[in-house]
Amino acid sequence: MIKKIAIGELKQGMNVCGVGKGHGEDLFFINNILVSNANDIHKLIENGYTSVFVELTDETVHETPAPEGPAAAIGADSLNRAVVKPLKENDSRDEVEFREETREAYRIRDDALSVVKDVLSDARLGKSINKDKLDALLGNIVDSIFRNRHALTSLARLKAYDDYTFTHSVNVCILSIALGRNLELTRGDLLALGVGALLHDLGKVLLPESLVNKPGLYTAAERVKIQEHPSLGADFVSESADIKLESIYVVSQHHERYDGSGYQWNLMKDEIHQFARIAGIADIYDAMTTDRVYRKGLLPTEVLKIIYLRGTDHFGAGLVDSFIRSIGIYPIGSIVELNTGEVGLVTSVNQSDLVRPGVLMVYDKDKSLYDRPFSVDLQNDRHLCIMGILDPKSYKTDFDSFLS
Ligand SMILES: [Fe+2]
Repeated sequence: MIKKIAIGELKQGMNVCGVGKGHGEDLFFINNILVSNANDIHKLIENGYTSVFVELTDETVHETPAPEGPAAAIGADSLNRAVVKPLKENDSRDEVEFREETREAYRIRDDALSVVKDVLSDARLGKSINKDKLDALLGNIVDSIFRNRHALTSLARLKAYDDYTFTHSVNVCILSIALGRNLELTRGDLLALGVGALLHDLGKVLLPESLVNKPGLYTAAERVKIQEHPSLGADFVSESADIKLESIYVVSQHHERYDGSGYQWNLMKDEIHQFARIAGIADIYDAMTTDRVYRKGLLPTEVLKIIYLRGTDHFGAGLVDSFIRSIGIYPIGSIVELNTGEVGLVTSVNQSDLVRPGVLMVYDKDKSLYDRPFSVDLQNDRHLCIMGILDPKSYKTDFDSFLS
């Protein structure tokens, strides 16, 4: 379990997996760092870190001060109880099955990657945005998410594309629209939200590439420069095409935080446009689940726990719950270990019980591949339960082939 603590609470023997300075993006290490002596703690303080993420083992869990509020027991079950609310009749149903929408979802995602590549490359050359192309794409994305909320969002797990900026922009757009659907936004609002989310980091392509892609930590001056990307992007977008004001708010405010700890305008609470808060949470989720040069991406469930722990301060309580519900505690494509020792692939999400998804059993209890993988629905098979989430990279199996 990963927990954020103040640097003053850090003790010898703890495993540090990330650091934060209170503003901007938190950084996560490729490997955990064991705090072996007081000097290790001093080094972190000297570098200006005010908080750290620690990976708690069974031994350390009891020695660590309990976090405040409902995050005290942040197992998947408590997350489930906290975010699952009675659903309206039509809230839990999708028009078509996940599998039925998958092929179209892949097509739309490829199209989105090519559109965003063109838009951002054009922006780098000072060319204006092709609004018609953007509108057609967004229409397709919104329609797909209305047919099935998980087909497109589950593709956010695919991180195989070389260029982070393009993939990330598409993922933030898809995740934002899925969250917007859960919040019952109108189709017109979802389109505006989606345009803003797709263009949220456009300002970065207007900055030197060497700065944007710099591995490791920024200097103070570099940080100031990179934190100008929301306003740079918003200026470009508002001047270059007939883009709605709500979309421009997403670009200019996606790093603002509910408690005022974000940048660039020091906005708080309702001063931040709802769409910018939606894109902000999607941005954090996708960034933290992706491998970067300077750190390894975390597994979706771990990131959702961190968002649940800290998200209320950063995004407001209602938004955090809805986001977790829109993705599922074990998103489709997650690899999970069950209480029987078997290993399976999450293939569907039960909206009314997020810790009991549909699972395709792939490995038996001895971790040998089943000749014929078979499906179980944990909502019906109550003797089965998920014990933990596993890293698909530690298996040779191409799990994605089971989904598509
Ligand atoms: Fe950004």
